Amino acid sequence: MSPDLYCVMGNPVAHSRSPWIHARFAELTGQRLHYVKRQIELGGFAQALHAFAQEGGLGCNVTVPFKFEAAALATQTSERALLAQAANTLSFKEGEILADNTDGVGLVDDIEQGAGLDLQGRRLLLIGAGGAAAGVLGPLILAHPASVTVANRTLDKADSLVQCHAALAMLHNTELLAHDLQGLKGTFDVVINASSSSLGGAAVPVPGSTLKAGALAYDMMYGPAAQGFLTWAHEHGALPRDGLGMLVSQAAEAFLIWRGVRPPAQKVLAELRAVMAQ
Ligand code: ATR
Repeated sequence: MSPDLYCVMGNPVAHSRSPWIHARFAELTGQRLHYVKRQIELGGFAQALHAFAQEGGLGCNVTVPFKFEAAALATQTSERALLAQAANTLSFKEGEILADNTDGVGLVDDIEQGAGLDLQGRRLLLIGAGGAAAGVLGPLILAHPASVTVANRTLDKADSLVQCHAALAMLHNTELLAHDLQGLKGTFDVVINASSSSLGGAAVPVPGSTLKAGALAYDMMYGPAAQGFLTWAHEHGALPRDGLGMLVSQAAEAFLIWRGVRPPAQKVLAELRAVMAQ
């Protein structure tokens, strides 16, 4: 019998580390599966998804730019995917497409288990209010920080993201605020960069004075795209961390959804860092 089939769909997808990560998870947990990458033409996502399910695919990770379409195409959507209005993990079951979003739990897991920082009671600054920020805000609130400030170049977008999460924040006693990038008051225990400013070569869009001494400064990107932010964090005495751990942890959560087994994310992260350093 051929192994169970999974894939990652995106555009671009050539440099995706997901096949490597899921292959290691499978080896370490004794699961038999085959995980491939599929580059999807813009406008061709829905067709590719249905074709993959017809082929016998059991599940699919979704990356840029199809996460919103993935949530919209699903026949059942988890609460966290609904909040994010985006999905990165799909499962095909009895003709249904089940959508989930593991990005936020991946981030929280990497901060708490990887960086060893408990988010409960902390003051968080989330920079950006696009798709990446929307994908993580719900799970950040569920980690019970004292406050989350969403700071964005376009204040309206921060406002609407905050409004979507206001009820959840109230339920969990978390103060949730929207702000523009100027005049941020006070310091933060954790500053998370979910903006794409570095991709365009722009400087870090908030001042170093937002960082509390010894704060964790987290960029959700990794590789060269994260470098400017990590250098900035280091220069301001913060603890810099890139998003590679989030990548592995969101994959671990997807693997758990598909296979019912939690793989050792931190072990695979250490291996991946070693591979990437070669
Ligand atoms: P993604 O899916 O990566 O989040 P997106 O939805 O296009 O992409 O969102 C990009 C985010 O980065 C937005 O919050 C954007 O700010 P605006 O809402 O004001 O556009 C932010 N961003 C991009 N370039 C930026 C820059 N040079 N300075 C500050 N913020 C920037």
